[in-house]
Amino acid sequence: MTDTPVRIGVVGMNYWGPNLARNFARLEGSELRWCCDLDQSVLDRHRSAYPTTRFTTHLDDLLSDPETDAVVIATSVPTHASLAKRALEAGKHVFVEKPLALTGKDAREVTALADERGLICMVDHLLVYHPGLQKVKQLIDEGTLGQVFYLYGNRQNLGIVRADENALWSLGPHDISVMLWLVGERPVEVSASGESYLQAGVEDVVFGRIRFPSGVLGHLHLSWLDPHKMRKMTVIGRDKMVVFDDMETERKVTLYDKGPVPRTETYGEYIQVRSGDIHIPKIPGVEPLKVVCEEFVRSVASGTAPLADGHAGTVVVEVLEAMTESLRSAGAPIALTTREGGG
Ligand SMILES: NC(=O)c1ccc[n+]([C@@H]2O[C@H](COP(=O)([O-])OP(=O)(O)OC[C@H]3O[C@@H](n4cnc5c(N)ncnc54)[C@H](O)[C@@H]3O)[C@@H](O)[C@H]2O)c1
Repeated sequence: MTDTPVRIGVVGMNYWGPNLARNFARLEGSELRWCCDLDQSVLDRHRSAYPTTRFTTHLDDLLSDPETDAVVIATSVPTHASLAKRALEAGKHVFVEKPLALTGKDAREVTALADERGLICMVDHLLVYHPGLQKVKQLIDEGTLGQVFYLYGNRQNLGIVRADENALWSLGPHDISVMLWLVGERPVEVSASGESYLQAGVEDVVFGRIRFPSGVLGHLHLSWLDPHKMRKMTVIGRDKMVVFDDMETERKVTLYDKGPVPRTETYGEYIQVRSGDIHIPKIPGVEPLKVVCEEFVRSVASGTAPLADGHAGTVVVEVLEAMTESLRSAGAPIALTTREGGG
């Protein structure tokens, strides 16, 4: 690593991009060199906050600038893959908003290009950097839960009803990325069913299922048409159960010492249950997006792959793509076999 800051250009400055610009501008080790948006009025909103940053409506200004190390892509989803490829071809590291691409093929191409060029490709799967979910991962990996049976995610509210993206593509990347990382296996089969109640062809509610080779089952409830605002992940183990609840301020993670107890005199029967202590570990209150941005800067500076790299982002897109196929086929199971290579 050197002392030179990683010089960053953020592309797409409307709703989400400014959060990334703010973090990269404040981080030690990075410099917000450019802000780029096709829409001049969007750029004008941010000029005063970053007096030393350059502003442009032309992506080529960033790509041709030898002093720019990395490009952060926070544009609309259909543009992610093509902009990421252009940036990589120009020799820039890329940070891409979720999802990495709209098809597994595009996601694999972006990732392969980054690998070929020896450049970092990171995807904003920010929940895998959430200290609460890091705790859940630790509890699983150290064996506190015992064998993991199944897990489920709830991401519901009465929220922004998007016309260009259904609930699966808009909300699903968060929970899918978390499940794949928590289970640590490549899924073998997915299915999804949902309905479009408000706009034809755009599902407002989706129920997804992911099956892992060890038998772990993942379930997703994704909806922006729901009275409850829920941001939860529940993991059921043989010995203990854990709930991550991002709507809670003081008890983000709750560990339940609950489970079935096998009867010793009649093998195979689980009549009794154990209901022990409930433990609430202390979770540091850091902004996950800040942790994400720090990881990107560290990865670029050191040349080491981030946790949410292009390969991880590609599997998420493959799951989304296969779930979409299932949605269009009345919830039929879709096998995930010949996709993103590697372990
Ligand atoms: N990680 C998260 O929790 C989270 C939350 C919200 C949004 N997002 C993601 O952030 C991205 C942006 O979302 P948004 O809601 O801000 O979108 P948006 O449509 O409101 O804004 C996108 C901006 O990108 C600009 N743009 C599009 N193509 C461009 C190009 N070729 N060059 C320069 N500028 C271009 C548009 O002019 C627009 O201002 C999406 O991928 C979305 O999925 C992530």
